[in-house]
Amino acid sequence: MALLKIARMGHPVLRGRAAEIDDPTAPWVRRLVEDMIETMEDAGGTGIAAPQLHVPHRVVVFRVDGDRITDLPDDSGQELTALINPVVEPVGDERAYGWEGCLSVPGLRGVVPRHLRVRYRGLDLDGNPVEREVAGFHARVVQHECDHLDGILYPQRMTDHRILVFTEELQRHPIDVAAILAENEPPR
Ligand code: NI
Repeated sequence: MALLKIARMGHPVLRGRAAEIDDPTAPWVRRLVEDMIETMEDAGGTGIAAPQLHVPHRVVVFRVDGDRITDLPDDSGQELTALINPVVEPVGDERAYGWEGCLSVPGLRGVVPRHLRVRYRGLDLDGNPVEREVAGFHARVVQHECDHLDGILYPQRMTDHRILVFTEELQRHPIDVAAILAENEPPR
């Protein structure tokens, strides 16, 4: 296992569409996932996508901590999951705003609108299908990670960049997000 270097916003690997993986059971995929997990945990992330480690293939790894979930019925903690060739589709029209950060955008946090509920599917490292329908924070994490595979970073999903801030400043100067969002149209 190895710690891999994390690409930061501006590196072209973060802007491209990552390639499908032909064989999820290939040894290089398993090694990649091990390195992704080690790198994510070392950096204190909730998830990571292969392009963030300069590997332009469709693999994501994430976990959902129980203390960050909302009280929606389909929002749940999730053990560490590796997904190969994941596909995400919205369930219903509802959107929600929430804070996000990204290991490729260090030091910053932003409030991002996401689909409240999604269905996602993909393959695990044994090539078995994984399919889940989730909501809230779990749905947010999956949308964020899978966006990386299409070259999208969370600031591109933001609708109000007044709430893209340095984490350190946020700690010093708490933001009334609801008041700022109330000045905007509801998320679409
Ligand atoms: Ni990210």
